[in-house]
Amino acid sequence: MKNVSPLCHTPPMGWNSWNTFSWNINADLIKSSADKMIETGLAEAGYEYIVIDDCWSEKQRVNGRLVPDHEKFPDGIKSVADYVHSKGLKFGIYSCAGTHTCAGYPGSFEHEFEDAETFAEWGVDYLKYDYCYKPETADGANLYKRMGMALRNCGRDIVFSACNWGKDDVHSWIRESGANLFRSTGDIQDNWESVKRIALSQIGKECCSGVYCHNDMDMLVVGMHGNSDNEWIADVVGGCTDTEYKTHFALWAIMNSPLMIGCDIRKMSDETKEILTNKDIIAINQDIECRGPYCIKQWNNPENVFALIKPLSGGDYAIGMFNFGDKTNEMSLQFFDIGLPYTSGRGLEIYDCCKHETIGIFTERLCVQIPSHDCMMYRAKVVKA
Ligand code: GAL
Repeated sequence: MKNVSPLCHTPPMGWNSWNTFSWNINADLIKSSADKMIETGLAEAGYEYIVIDDCWSEKQRVNGRLVPDHEKFPDGIKSVADYVHSKGLKFGIYSCAGTHTCAGYPGSFEHEFEDAETFAEWGVDYLKYDYCYKPETADGANLYKRMGMALRNCGRDIVFSACNWGKDDVHSWIRESGANLFRSTGDIQDNWESVKRIALSQIGKECCSGVYCHNDMDMLVVGMHGNSDNEWIADVVGGCTDTEYKTHFALWAIMNSPLMIGCDIRKMSDETKEILTNKDIIAINQDIECRGPYCIKQWNNPENVFALIKPLSGGDYAIGMFNFGDKTNEMSLQFFDIGLPYTSGRGLEIYDCCKHETIGIFTERLCVQIPSHDCMMYRAKVVKA
């Protein structure tokens, strides 16, 4: 029996073409994004997968096989995958459990095993698998099982990224399909309301996510600033503020979502790069135990202000404090509530993951003012106090 090391112990990190480019993709874009992944330090920070989303194929299969769009990918997909691999990165592609992809290209329904074989031949390391055009009589869970089995037996390690937008009670059956990550929400848009809505919708569902099968809250919009060929994603001109992008990244990180960048990494601002490469926040996301956080709301402002607490391996705790309100608000975290009564004689040594410095030892509580739409991200160590 093969004894292989399983894929995706921690949430995958990478870049995906959809948020910024949608249908406007081609080999040069993918290759130059791979170059930038290295040059900008994103790869060093942990980003690994370069994923082509929808719209990469011809509209018809040839001899039953998927074929790359000959204008977008004149040398085929394998040559792009080879290029990505030559940079030390991994390569991902997209298909769909239905008869067509969401943009109307051929889907993998009843072609699951041959498509998995094609992807393996091309050197694919990651498959995002969508849910459009599912025949009404087909059972969604069964379709993910099929592709899960096909991928597990195609002769290559391919991460299975399920994308059914949280439909059909996916949390309850996706793990058994063999998927390594699963989309739990509808598509993200480059605005604060969308970020907020997605985050709130997943608080309380942390127990469904864990090692080898992670709750995917959708690709990041960090750094897009309204720049997308897809008007629906761009939504309002200007996108989010850098503060909102910082909060978005912190939320996805502490909630253990995969971190798939969606902006044009060839044109990142310094602020975007700083957010995306924050090593202290990435370490929280990539903690080996993958324990989901729990939520403590600010008692006198529960609608707007809350903390997420995540136990880390080795005894530390990640503490994220978030202010979704439109003015500065206070969060006062009582240590009693997280398992540290005053009588224990212990306190928390608090390290600020954005300033990258220890701010002190606190007993009983940590009380901070958080500007509107901002957050605080801490790593806390239990110490005698
Ligand atoms: C959606 C999916 C998006 C993107 C798009 C492509 O269903 O949620 O992330 O992949 O399809 O058409």
